[in-house]
Amino acid sequence: MPNVRINSSRLNQTLQDLGRIGETPEGMQRIAFSPADIEGREYAISLMRQAGLETRIDPAGNIIGRKNGTVPGLPAIAMGSHTDTVPRGGKYDGALGVMGAIECVQALADNNVTLRHPVETLIFTNEEGTRFHRWLIGSRAMAGMLEPEDFTAIDDDGVTLSTRMADIGGDFSRVAEAARKPDELAAYLELHIEQGPTLHQSGIPIGVVTGITGRAVFEVEVIGTANHAGTTPMPDRRDALVSASRLVLAVNRLAADLETCRVATVGSIQAHPNAINVVPGRVSIGLEFRDLSMEALDAAEAELRQAAAEICQADGLEMEILRHRFSSSVPVQEDMQSLVEEAANLAGLGHTRLPSGAGHDAQAIATITNMAMLFVPSTDGISHAPQEYSTPQECADGAQVLLQLLILADERL
Ligand code: GLV
Ligand code: MN
Ligand code: MN
Repeated sequence: MPNVRINSSRLNQTLQDLGRIGETPEGMQRIAFSPADIEGREYAISLMRQAGLETRIDPAGNIIGRKNGTVPGLPAIAMGSHTDTVPRGGKYDGALGVMGAIECVQALADNNVTLRHPVETLIFTNEEGTRFHRWLIGSRAMAGMLEPEDFTAIDDDGVTLSTRMADIGGDFSRVAEAARKPDELAAYLELHIEQGPTLHQSGIPIGVVTGITGRAVFEVEVIGTANHAGTTPMPDRRDALVSASRLVLAVNRLAADLETCRVATVGSIQAHPNAINVVPGRVSIGLEFRDLSMEALDAAEAELRQAAAEICQADGLEMEILRHRFSSSVPVQEDMQSLVEEAANLAGLGHTRLPSGAGHDAQAIATITNMAMLFVPSTDGISHAPQEYSTPQECADGAQVLLQLLILADERL
């Protein structure tokens, strides 16, 4: 195998070009199924075609680029990530894995190298779950892991998933056909920014992912009594926002002080009717726990329920806890971690093993094939924010290791 190198300036140019699609003064707004998301997908498809890939959109809206290998009948080695962003997000989350994958294929084509296995580049639909509040839609569909709630999901504009899918070229009535059969894929390789501080602080260019954290998501409805803010005496109030605030603090404490689970976040809150002169009658909060240990997530849920019961008792109101989703933590197989280390060594780059605190399409795809994931540093550990940044060199290093990993996987699997 010749010593194929990715083209750093081309990779960084495509990343910047994609980063201009959906860019706003407040950050990236390439929310899944939006016009900007569709434009970003079209841009990526054009790059895939330039790299010699045949492209198609599966019924779940996933974009699949494919180039056949030299040995007939072998399963494909896939690489990819997502191009949707969170609201006010950054330019690298997902984008690096997609542009890196396409760059690997382009670099092989430039060097007239065809691998033994077919190679696929994948862009998964609605990884972030900003739309529909249901994440990993495309990768879960590809893994045959959609849940009943996915089929009835309606977004904040009242539009069904099936309509949104049609907008991006999918066909939700045939979504079961998006599931890949076990013999179709030999491996899935995902390059991603770390989205945390470990690599940036240590100065190590490559992270070898050991596993992806599990996540438990809940919605809590706090039901008090709306009343006049000027006339209702303090002792007579059933103020849902005050009680919700106590729950927010309890959730924070259970990770920050008690260390029941690694992280706990209340990320969304709506007060009703949300008027300054009305005692809030109802509050909805959305929260999540994450940990590699599923026992820790169970323990956190038990503490949440206990804290809610105590607050209800003390404040004289009610809370309804809806358990929304539970994604299991996913370990990366030892041999796949070693393969990433070998690839980093071949690229002459230092590496360290670390778990992923963020969720990724790889956790769904790991249920149907061999999965490996590698990280590059995120400056100051910032992600899901406009300041998200990895240097051109860091991005290029990651893509070079991805290419080396692809070549190793092609030889070994
Ligand atoms: C996905 O980006 C997540 O929230 O981990
Ligand atoms: Mn991501
Ligand atoms: Mn993300």
